[in-house]
This record gives sequence, C-alpha cells and structure tokens, in this order.
Amino acid sequence: MIFKSSTTAVPEAPSVPRHIAIIMDGNGRWATKRLLPRVAGHVKGVDAVRKIVEACVERGVEYLTLFAFSSENWRRPADEVSYLMGLFVSALEREVSKMHANNIRLKVVGDLSRFDAKLQDMIANAERRTAGNSRLTVSVCANYGGRWDIMQATSKMIAANPGVADYTEDMLAPHLAMAYAPEPDLFIRTGGEERISNFLLWQLAYSELYFTDAFWPDFSPASLDTAIASYQSRERRFGRTGEQVAKKT
Ligand code: IPE
Ligand code: IPE
Ligand code: MG
Repeated sequence: MIFKSSTTAVPEAPSVPRHIAIIMDGNGRWATKRLLPRVAGHVKGVDAVRKIVEACVERGVEYLTLFAFSSENWRRPADEVSYLMGLFVSALEREVSKMHANNIRLKVVGDLSRFDAKLQDMIANAERRTAGNSRLTVSVCANYGGRWDIMQATSKMIAANPGVADYTEDMLAPHLAMAYAPEPDLFIRTGGEERISNFLLWQLAYSELYFTDAFWPDFSPASLDTAIASYQSRERRFGRTGEQVAKKT
C-alpha cells in the first residue's frame, strides 16, 4: 500500500492518530532524581513501553514508533551501551510471544549491521514471527538516525533508477526505512527537551509535535490521552488556509 505523502499530496488527518512516533527521553534523569543508577531508568522505561503499546491497541492507533537507541547513542559510556543492548535482548525474549498473541507486528528499524549476530538473529526471528499481525505495528528504532535513513534511501533510489537525471520525492519515499507506514500524525517527546535529535527527519515534515516534561518512565496511558487531546485540538492545514480545510477542498 502506498500512503499519501504530506508534501506531494494532502494526506488524511485522522481524529485518532493513525501513527504516533515517540522519542522516549528522560530515563537517566528519572533514575538520577531517585539516587538510582541511570540504567534503573531504562529498566523502568521498558515497563512504560509495555503500557503504551497496550494503550495504543485500545485506542485504535495503527502504528507506534519508538526511538530506543539513536545512531549517536554509541557515544555514551560503554557500560551503559552494553546494558541497553542486554535490555533489548531480554525485552525481545520476554515480549515477542505476548505481542504475537495480541496480533501485534514488530519491526526494528535502523542500521542493524552494527549489532552482534545474536541480536540480529533475534530481531529477524521476531519480525518474521509477527509479520502477519495486523492490529498494531510497533516499530522500534535502534541504531537509527534520520540522516542515515535519507542517505540509505538515496543510494537505493539511485541504484533502482539508473540513468535518471531528475529524481522526485515519490522516487525516494519507497526506499525509506519506514516505507511500510504512513507518516506520523503525532510526534511525542518526553523528558523536557524540545528537539528532534536526528529522529525521523523526512517523515516528520507535517507531524503535529507534542513535548512534555514527564520523564519516559512516568509517561502513562493518561499522559498519552493528554497528548492525543492536544493533537485533536489542532487544525492540520498541510499548507492550505483554514477556510479550505473547513470546506474540505
Ligand atoms: C532515553 O533516556 C533512552 C535512551 C536514549 C536510550 P536517556 O537515557 O536519554 O535519559 P536522559 O535524557 O539522560 O534523562
Ligand atoms: C534521543 O534521546 C534518542 C532516544 C530517545 C533513543 P537522547 O537523550 O539521546 O537525545 P539528546 O542527546 O538529548 O538530543
Ligand atoms: Mg536523553
């Protein structure tokens, strides 16, 4: 299925966001505030993921995309990086069966070549096992960067179109890592920072942005409802005037 692009056509503006993308930030500060090691915040963060996945299923969200590890997060202390990798493995071991039982499809998006072979295998197996599920698609962005995504898509586009002089957005979009999903309707960042941190640079062109000071481990289904309510209070114009939106032209 080809989804309408927000820059080349006017997409739908569904009242329940069809696709929510979240930068789950603030785990470390959540822990530090409690005099705990930073990694305790990451452990709590996994619980928050579980609750938000469930809440999205209940609310009829079709795509949930979670930024779990950025291409820049390798800059962190080695012990934090290896703890995060371990947490990823144990979360996959524990959660994939439950997701499958709940008709949830799992995708892991990013440059996976940098992960060790065991983790790459687990990811491939989890994706294969849940590929036919249709209730909610959960995409976990791991070693993901928006610039990496645009560059890898550009290389593929050029390889797929030899001799073409003028490339268009519509030629690039199918090669982006998340071409299987519509562009996010709602972007949420927890943890108080108001920046994109190299997340979905291309795909966020017309997403509604929502920032909250809540640290990710404290982000609850009620917090999600507050974000959705904010989204619902906005007029998505996609370049048009308010009058045109009202007349649906
Ligand atoms: C987000 O929380 C999780 C990852 C980046 C893996 P942080 O670890 O960035 O938490 P803060 O921002 O330091 O509080
Ligand atoms: C963004 O959070 C990446 C993830 C949540 C995985 P960071 O904590 O890494 O972002 P910066 O460094 O504050 O911009
Ligand atoms: Mg952070």
